Amino acid sequence: MIPVILCGGTGSRLWPLSREAYPKQFLPLIGGETMLQATVRRLEGIQQIQAPILVCNEEHRFAAAEQLQEIGRGAQSILLEPCARNTAPAIALAALAALESGADPLLLVLPADHAVADVAAFQQAVQSALALAEQGHLVTFGIVPTRAETGYGYIRRGDVLAGNAWKVAEFVEKPNAETAESYIAGGEHSWNSGMFLFRASRYLEELGQHRVDILAACRSAYKSAVRDLDFTRVDRDAFATCADESVDYAVMEPTESAAVVPMDAGWSDVGSWQGLWELAERDANENLLQGDVLLEDSERCLVRAESRLVSLLGVKDLVVVDTDDALLIADQQRVQEVKKLVTKLRGQG
Ligand code: GDD
Ligand code: MG
Repeated sequence: MIPVILCGGTGSRLWPLSREAYPKQFLPLIGGETMLQATVRRLEGIQQIQAPILVCNEEHRFAAAEQLQEIGRGAQSILLEPCARNTAPAIALAALAALESGADPLLLVLPADHAVADVAAFQQAVQSALALAEQGHLVTFGIVPTRAETGYGYIRRGDVLAGNAWKVAEFVEKPNAETAESYIAGGEHSWNSGMFLFRASRYLEELGQHRVDILAACRSAYKSAVRDLDFTRVDRDAFATCADESVDYAVMEPTESAAVVPMDAGWSDVGSWQGLWELAERDANENLLQGDVLLEDSERCLVRAESRLVSLLGVKDLVVVDTDDALLIADQQRVQEVKKLVTKLRGQG
């Protein structure tokens, strides 16, 4: 089994900490390790696990390689994308790389920016998905949903396949709020964790069936790839022609071979400042304080001070993130919209 670690996202909702140069997967958001390092370490102890394949933007190649080195781990290969084309192509490149050895390994696809509190439960879920993936299923890991989140994929459980696994009756990526609410009310859905387990060849078959254009662009970009030290740089022109599509829309929605295994591992995708606040340990007044922070009579705030003292007095429900060159002050309830600021900033730049 080869872990495929996806680390090409931008993490724009965690601005101003997460930047184009250093997106959230390369930052220590919780504890001392970066999210990429935590993702790699979480795999320790899984039987027959091989060194990972990383897929990232070429701009981040040194960050990715150095962060693995720091924890004494190596990658099987680091695939470099000249431009972001989302996760369907990124996984296709990894599958093509994995098949080069002549074997047809299982790929454990993992986003590099998730938090998992219970590593044993995570590993247990992976173990219980092995047999299904070997039989040719595309296995997703289902999370018990707690709110009508519209940023996730939803899985409706179908027939039982094995003790603790179901056929996916329907996969719906990022439904609107009304649909998400009906799913929560109905109780038949899980969230898609964004982690998958399948054979390399099965993914490419399904991609070929549903999005042959993406498969063709990836094959051609990979065929002309250039090896450069530990890095494999896919062909710029060929990859640029590839459609920008996530695995969820390209494969998981249309496939008839999806299965779902539950994962109850204290999972969070740390998508926003609110997500981080919910996850981390807070003080008696529900404040999450990181760095040199002085607080008086304030509640439910997230304050992160990178390089100087930050102090708050008599405020509630604020997110304050102070970095060397940018300061964010936001209403906790509206942190999903931080993305808008980033879009505005890019427009100016
Ligand atoms: N290499 C590479 N290239 N990685 C990418 C790219 C890319 O172009 N785009 C995104 N990624 C990485 C991100 O860094 C992240 O680790 C992972 O792929 C998933 O991408 P997101 O952009 O974070 O996806 P999402 O959060 O909107 O949705 C996915 O995750 C949800 C759970 O967190 C979907 O799978 C949803 O169905 C799922 O519920
Ligand atoms: Mg995500």
